[in-house]
Amino acid sequence: MTDKLIIFDTTLRDGEQSPGASMTKDEKVRIARQLERLRVDVIEAGFAASSDGDFAAINAIAQVIKDSTVCSLARANEKDIGRAADALKGANSKRIHTFIATSPLHMEKKLRMTPDQVFEQAKAAVRFARNHTNDIEFSPEDGYRSEVDFLCRVLEAVIKEGATTINVPDTVGYAVPELYGNFIKTLRERIPNSDKAIWSVHCHNDLGMGVANSLAGVKIGGARQIECTINGLGERAGNTSLEEVVMAIKTRKDYFDLSVGIDTTQIVPASKMVSQITGFVVQPNKAVVGANAFAHASGIHQDGVLKARDTYEIMRAEDVGWAANKIVLGKLSGRNAFKQRLQELGIELESEAEMNDAFSRFKTLADQKAEIFDEDITAIVGNNAEEA
Ligand code: KIV
Ligand code: ZN
Repeated sequence: MTDKLIIFDTTLRDGEQSPGASMTKDEKVRIARQLERLRVDVIEAGFAASSDGDFAAINAIAQVIKDSTVCSLARANEKDIGRAADALKGANSKRIHTFIATSPLHMEKKLRMTPDQVFEQAKAAVRFARNHTNDIEFSPEDGYRSEVDFLCRVLEAVIKEGATTINVPDTVGYAVPELYGNFIKTLRERIPNSDKAIWSVHCHNDLGMGVANSLAGVKIGGARQIECTINGLGERAGNTSLEEVVMAIKTRKDYFDLSVGIDTTQIVPASKMVSQITGFVVQPNKAVVGANAFAHASGIHQDGVLKARDTYEIMRAEDVGWAANKIVLGKLSGRNAFKQRLQELGIELESEAEMNDAFSRFKTLADQKAEIFDEDITAIVGNNAEEA
């Protein structure tokens, strides 16, 4: 049986940690509704204890979202967990996500706590969170740079306390795919009760490997939840992109053999909404959601795609929410693409000679500007007709 991969979206929490990406309550609710249309399994709506505004946004989202689980982040203490639980009141399905750092560097320099203190606090936090919901996620922050023995000790204990999801963050984007995948695998093999929890990956993109690391965590490590954001929004260089991991899992089902519940036709609308609300422009060559992701400019590619789309397309633009793929007419375009555009514009040229003439005018113009638009073609053909 094909396993299900849980898609945990953290655009509204980790994504909002992008400098300059802060969102109002109403904007967060709009995005949450779009995430529900996208059918993400879990929406991390915010960090309730971080501000009254975030508390209110999580609470508003908890009231309107019916099909996705709504989650709040909380540090591993009773005050934060209490705030998260209060913010989530009224949710159809809710999760508390509690975390504490476990790497030697973070414990010593940031938390100024001993490993034993961290161990006790992690256990107590999960135990306390269980008073509010059965759906508890625990994250050892900076997990990937933690010592394996200590990490195993902490994770085994929090699973005993009732954590149902164990998320292993690569908080600073330091991992490389094979090592991260094997890290998850080792933890799952060494922790005796590891099968009592769902394992999750949370990868930052500091070295541009967030998506690759997440997929390795799934393939090599056996994780069954990916944490990700729309457009890869997030702290510093961002998080794993939802659109990229989802389309990788779908397009390479032959390799991953996993199912995701996402309605992929809602991906581009979600990307545009997040970009418009945050003001973060999506780079044109961004996979899946960039303006050029399904645009063909070279004559050879255009000719191939017009004959059979699979020649240069591994996914369909329409399947991810674009209206269609794009043949961009310019200096690299060939006669076939030009002819096709004439046809789409309803222009019929009488003779081969007329076509030759129009095509040669098109090439001359294309050498002078980056893209030839439909109005340019109409003008070219108009000139052609006048002179004929
Ligand atoms: O990157 C990180 O470690 C986090 C945790 C809070 C899960 O975002
Ligand atoms: Zn993070």
